[in-house]
Amino acid sequence: MNIVDNTSHEGQDGSLLRKLARVSAWALLAGIVILVISGWGITQTGVIYKFSFGLVDRRLADAIHRAANAPVVFFFLAHVLINIKLAIARRHHSGRTADIILIIAGVLLMAITVYMEYFRLGG
Ligand code: HEM
Repeated sequence: MNIVDNTSHEGQDGSLLRKLARVSAWALLAGIVILVISGWGITQTGVIYKFSFGLVDRRLADAIHRAANAPVVFFFLAHVLINIKLAIARRHHSGRTADIILIIAGVLLMAITVYMEYFRLGG
């Protein structure tokens, strides 16, 4: 039986990037779970307060929810942009231009997130 390994031409960089894409995938999944539960801590405070044995009240849930935004965006961008890069590399074997576009997109979107989260006052 001949198993097609689509990672054979990725080389060391590719496998390091694949590892980064997978680690960021699991961090992203954890971040999404934290966002949902802390979000309920804001909208369904009584339920989360009870299930957290009184540890998580609305103020803490709000603080966790706000703090989770930027890391979730970071891991989402890392996971998606690296997987897009690997998908392009599988089809075109080069894609220097694609690399530059993906890096610019990633840095720009992360910069907007950091500005919105830490530098721009609400409202
Ligand atoms: C909130 C959104 C997402 C979450 C939580 C997520 C999570 C995951 C997880 C847990 C894995 C398995 C990692 C492993 O094999 O160890 C994975 C794999 C993968 N994801 Fe996502 N993902 C998300 C969005 C996306 C999006 C939008 C894309 C499209 C570009 C994508 C592309 C992939 C690919 C191509 C793989 C396979 C990578 C491999 O085999 O190494 N994911 N994702």
